[in-house]
Amino acid sequence: MLILGIETSCDETSSSVVEDGKTILSNIIFSQEKIHHKYGGVVPEIASREHVNRIDKIVYEALIKTDKKIQDIDAIAVTNGPGLIGSLLVGTSFAKALSTASNKPLIGVNHLYAHLYAPELEGDIKYPALGLIVSGGHTSIYYIKGLFEYERVARTRDDAAGEIFDKISKYLDLGYPGGPIIDRLAKEGNSERYRFSIPRMSDGSMDFSFSGIKSAALRIIKHEKDNLNIKDFAASFQNIIIDYLLSSLKSFLTIHKDVKSIILAGGVSRNSGLREKIKTVKEFKNLNIYLPSPALCTDNAAMIAGLGYHYYIRKEFFDLKTPPYSRFEPKGFGRRATNLI
Ligand code: KG4
Ligand code: ZN
Repeated sequence: MLILGIETSCDETSSSVVEDGKTILSNIIFSQEKIHHKYGGVVPEIASREHVNRIDKIVYEALIKTDKKIQDIDAIAVTNGPGLIGSLLVGTSFAKALSTASNKPLIGVNHLYAHLYAPELEGDIKYPALGLIVSGGHTSIYYIKGLFEYERVARTRDDAAGEIFDKISKYLDLGYPGGPIIDRLAKEGNSERYRFSIPRMSDGSMDFSFSGIKSAALRIIKHEKDNLNIKDFAASFQNIIIDYLLSSLKSFLTIHKDVKSIILAGGVSRNSGLREKIKTVKEFKNLNIYLPSPALCTDNAAMIAGLGYHYYIRKEFFDLKTPPYSRFEPKGFGRRATNLI
């Protein structure tokens, strides 16, 4: 079964053809990173306009790369949330039009669950799993009993991990996106040089909060002024974020003792320090650790088409009248889905 995926939830315009939820036949990703670079972050209005400029060509490219025509496709899967509403509207409107014109079923896929599905495109996930989604917009941990059984057990109360990489990089005039820049600098730095500590929530909650790390970073930068060693700072700053994420995963392992695997997802899971360190944690040594390849960590349509296949099998379809959602996270999966076939 062939699913055509479309993803436009943030600043990547992507389209992909995936066979049987497993085999990627094409995965075309256009990142708007360079366009947003000069603003130091994604500008939602510009992101939507750029999707409009490119979506038809990207979808066409995804199809011709596989030598398939729209008639050969079994269903169209599109990200219907969460994300930037203007960007989502471009992808969902395009998908609705294509589905109507080609008479193909339409599937609305939850973007976050699709991130947690990404490792299935490179292997088989052993459940139950803990999934850590770390990106520019999200830092959450999910306890995943099986496919479509997602329970969010922690989220960030303020900034996302990627957001503080980006904000601190912008403050230091290093460029956007900050994550890969800090990652590169950190490789040559001494992570013991500047002192940070792991945040603890005062109410005992296991949610994340990154505002303390951000304030500590700003304090160090202001205090050190011209003496700041940028590589050592990058290494120390990155290291505390990694330790914070890993210590939280460790805590959840003591609660969910049946967990067999850990899944990393989202842009920050490309971080080389995080990818190396997670393999050395002794509490994880009997677990399967899934680190998707870089193109499957960031936003991509292959994960949408991949999970879309399972929506199809379950006959969960997207209603043409239903709009995308920006923040709302549905319980279970799908949202006001209707059976169209
Ligand atoms: O998942 P993503 O492509 O887009 C969304 O936020 O939805 O994630 C982008 C985020 C940015 O904040 C970027 O700085 C961060 O991922 N990022 C990284 C690395 N590569 C991308 N953060 C740390 N280290 C990296 N190597
Ligand atoms: Zn994402």
